[in-house]
Amino acid sequence: MATTVLVGAQWGDEGKGKIIDVLTEQADVVVRYQGGNNAGHTVEVGSEKYVLHLIPSGILYPGKLNVIGNGVVVDPLALLEEIDHLQSRKIAVDGNLLVSDRAHLVLPYHRLLDGIREQSNKIGTTKRGIGPAYSDKVGRTGIRMIDLLSPEKFSVKLRRKVRETNEIARTFGQKPLSFAKINADYLAAGKKLRKYITDTITLLNRHERDGRQILLEGAQGTLLDIDFGTYPFVTSSNTTAGGACAGSGIPPHRIGRVVGVMKAYTTRVGEGPFPTELLDEQGATLRKVGSEFGATTGRPRRCGWFDAIATRYSVMLNGIDELAVTKMDVLDAVPKIKVCVAYKLDGKLIDTVPADVDDLQRCLPVYQEFDGWQTSTKHVRDFDDLPKRARLYLNKLAQLSGTKLGIVSVGARREETMFL
Ligand code: IMP
Repeated sequence: MATTVLVGAQWGDEGKGKIIDVLTEQADVVVRYQGGNNAGHTVEVGSEKYVLHLIPSGILYPGKLNVIGNGVVVDPLALLEEIDHLQSRKIAVDGNLLVSDRAHLVLPYHRLLDGIREQSNKIGTTKRGIGPAYSDKVGRTGIRMIDLLSPEKFSVKLRRKVRETNEIARTFGQKPLSFAKINADYLAAGKKLRKYITDTITLLNRHERDGRQILLEGAQGTLLDIDFGTYPFVTSSNTTAGGACAGSGIPPHRIGRVVGVMKAYTTRVGEGPFPTELLDEQGATLRKVGSEFGATTGRPRRCGWFDAIATRYSVMLNGIDELAVTKMDVLDAVPKIKVCVAYKLDGKLIDTVPADVDDLQRCLPVYQEFDGWQTSTKHVRDFDDLPKRARLYLNKLAQLSGTKLGIVSVGARREETMFL
């Protein structure tokens, strides 16, 4: 396996956790490169279900190295909670997890600011402080993992940030934060995390040169990318394959393969345009059958038909070599399935995602309709054993998206996967 990047090709929640899990078998190192604990990667192993927010899904395989890269924003308390939770379920973490010393921290004032900003500028964020943490990073006032290891430096930086945030908090009638409490809590967390914090950039490059198999795990999805997504209704990082290099320190020319994960339909959480959204009974059925509720916030996901304009854009941006189509089984009982093959904007047909969200909001989907296969695919383990109409549908999704089909998933379990 060449160094592989796995990205979400839609608006997140594509089932990346499961696909990373099945690809991890061939990997030595799994790396998260962006986002924070806004992500929720669900993995089912046997009868056990795990939801990972910060730690790469490779942690569920014994002996694999898992790295939280420099591009991730890490809430130290959330990370410790996740480590404790995994350890309480007998998953070995020590020796299998490392965190970049350059990763930025998410601190309580980021969550406070996320909440304040949501009141006047609603994005429908996860309120995990992700946007404000990345704002500090870019504004050069962030605090990093390495700072947690130098208590004095950490306290000086923290005091400044808490003072600054409290002025904003007062303006918005919010309770000010206590520097002393945050300082004590996070320095204590730093002590516990010390053993995981290291220079992951040098280490990853050494592993890569030594021929180890590296899997770079993207979070959220392409249409939530800060540059390429449906701005401003996006997350605050580069979720696309380009972000994998910036967020891990692995040079671009060392990436050998890009896998794009997409559902056989589309979902979105939070605000923002969604041309193929179904606000009718069909949308409610997809939500129910697909258990479309957020793994991090529990929010019901908006559901709609597959949008080939959005996925073709994703294939182009990420250089997706192969598709992993998930949740095929959710469509098993649907008699007629639609796929968006163009947008109609103010009477004109277009086949690209417009830059202006107001334009995208006005785009009407032009659909191609497919007959459903109306039989269960849950038990199918070989692509050739899928019903003919299901194969036709999948091949059409790949063709319309402009790449080839690599993996098809018909359930959350490892064995419910077909490799082409
Ligand atoms: P934030 O990342 O919490 O700032 O949220 C920004 C937008 O990205 C909101 O619409 C969220 O619902 C969405 N978002 C963030 N993380 C995820 C995810 O893991 N899956 C799906 N949507 C997400």
